[in-house]
Amino acid sequence: MNYRHAFHAGNFADLVKHAALLALLERLQASGPLAVIDTHAGRGLYDLAGPEAQRSGEAAAGIVQLIAAKDAPPAFTALKLAVQTLNPSGPPRSYPGSPWLIAQTLRATDRYLACELRPDEHAALRETLKGKANVRTLCADGYEAAVRETPTAGAVLVLIDPPFERADDYEAIVRTVQAVRRRNPAAVVLAWLPLKDLETFDAFRRALEDAVDGPGLIAETRMRPLDDPMRMNGCALALVPGPLDLAPILEAACGWTAGALGDRGFARVYRL
Ligand SMILES: C[S@@+](CC[C@H](N)C(=O)[O-])C[C@H]1O[C@@H](n2cnc3c(N)ncnc32)[C@H](O)[C@@H]1O
Repeated sequence: MNYRHAFHAGNFADLVKHAALLALLERLQASGPLAVIDTHAGRGLYDLAGPEAQRSGEAAAGIVQLIAAKDAPPAFTALKLAVQTLNPSGPPRSYPGSPWLIAQTLRATDRYLACELRPDEHAALRETLKGKANVRTLCADGYEAAVRETPTAGAVLVLIDPPFERADDYEAIVRTVQAVRRRNPAAVVLAWLPLKDLETFDAFRRALEDAVDGPGLIAETRMRPLDDPMRMNGCALALVPGPLDLAPILEAACGWTAGALGDRGFARVYRL
């Protein structure tokens, strides 16, 4: 496991994923107590002045641009507010990961389980979440933990955000969505995927469609034409089930990101 999210924190993919996550949390919390499971949590908070972010330049091309932009859509308001809370003045030096974003929305009736497999990242995650109520962390495989820990009733949001270092991550996502929804048909899953080439993504989409009962929503952010399968040419979000009222927010967030930060980029949001 070589992947370190510190190189990528605050990049274009984090922007769309975190805008969607915050919008989804708001909607699900409106209907009552919510349990959130984060299968691949990371360390929860990232230093953009650190060597990893400086070396990759991904945050400089992502969150720094978003904060400076005059034309960013309201779909990014909650994320910008979270980043500004961490960085009250000047350009962002700290970027919130999914654990920080989720933990700050929790109410007394909600709970959150954050899973991280790497012991060093898990130790940092515990530090980030120290003192937060209704939060638990596990240094464990997030796919297995999500299925085991999904409550069998009540509202649940499962975020699946793997590093795609393993060849079977696509398959593991489909298997986990299916098992979680079988355990609790009310569970909502938000999964993040890279867009490298269309064949790989189409195969995933077909497998997901076959595996789930209800309609889903797919949001693609294509940052450049998909003509080099060795590069991350964009990213996609898969939402099962896909609340239709989220489509305009995803269109706005993905559309702005592809247009403002991409090179001949475009976005599309459609039913699974
Ligand atoms: C893309 S990062 C997560 C970013 C985070 N969700 C966020 O939005 O801030 C993926 C993380 O998953 C961890 N990881 C890899 N395989 C895992 C597994 N099977 N279970 C749990 N965590 C895993 C990696 O160490 C890495 O920290």
